[in-house]
Amino acid sequence: MKAVINTLYEAKLAELKEKIDAESIPVQLTIVTVGDDPASKVYVRNKVRLFEALELPCHHIILPEEGTTQADLDGLAEKADHPILFQLPLPNGLEAPDLPAAVDVDGFGSEALGQLVLGQNPVLPCTVQAAIDIVEAHCGEYSFPGLKVAILGRSNIVGKPLAIELINRQSTVSSFNSRSDLAAVDWNQFDVIVVATGFHGTLDNTQFIEGQLIIDVGINRIDGKLVGDIKHQDGHLSAAAITPVPGGVGRLTCLNVLGNAVKLCQSK
Ligand code: GUN
Repeated sequence: MKAVINTLYEAKLAELKEKIDAESIPVQLTIVTVGDDPASKVYVRNKVRLFEALELPCHHIILPEEGTTQADLDGLAEKADHPILFQLPLPNGLEAPDLPAAVDVDGFGSEALGQLVLGQNPVLPCTVQAAIDIVEAHCGEYSFPGLKVAILGRSNIVGKPLAIELINRQSTVSSFNSRSDLAAVDWNQFDVIVVATGFHGTLDNTQFIEGQLIIDVGINRIDGKLVGDIKHQDGHLSAAAITPVPGGVGRLTCLNVLGNAVKLCQSK
C-alpha cells in the first residue's frame, strides 16, 4: 500500500507542477492558525513546506488564542481574494468563517458543500479527494459504480462529504457513527472500508479479508507514536490492503491543498 501512495503522490505532484508552469497559474495560499494546537502545527508546517519547495507564496497568519475574536477571523475571510484556510480545531468560541467557494481551498463552506450535494464538480475537501484518489489507484478508475463502501465517522470534513461524493459516483454507501452497533456488522461484505472516527482501535486488522481496501484516515498520538484509527495486532499481517499511518491519507491530503489551490487560482 505504501508503494501505491508514493506513486500516487509523485504522479500528482508532477502533474500539478507541470500545470502550474505550463499555464503560468499564480498559485498562492493563506493559512490562518489560532493558538498553538500541537497537531495543527505539524499539519500546517507540511503545507507551508510543500508550497516553499515549489517556490509558491504561502502566507501563514498566526493569531494568539488570547484576544482573537470571531470578528478578526470574519475580517480575514472578507478580505481574502485568493485561497485561504482556517486550520481546525479553532479554540472554543471561534468558528471558521463560511467562505465563498472561490477562495474555499478546504471545500468546507456551505457554497462548496452545496455544489458537492448537487454534483457540480466542486473543490472536494482535501481528505475526501485523498480517499477518492486511493480508491481509484487501488480499485481502478471505473470501479465506483456499485462499489460497496463503509464509512465510519460522520464528520463535516470527511465522513459526510465523502459519503456524498461516493453517492454521486453511484457507489453503495453505508454510513456508521458512534451510535452504530459496530460489533454486529459483517465487515467482510464491503469492498472498501474508510475509518474516520478519530479513535484508535475503532476496528483492527484481524477483521478484514483479502481483496478489501481499508482506508485509515485517523491520526492519533498514542504513547508518543502516531497511529491511525485501526489497531494493528502484533504478529498479525492483514490479508487486506490497509493505508499506513503516517505516510498514507495525510500525505495525500496535504498535496490536495495544493491541488485545490491550483484549481481555484486557475479559474480566477
Ligand atoms: N484540521 C485537520 N484537518 C484539516 C483540514 O483538512 N483542513 C483544515 N482547515 N483544518 C484541518
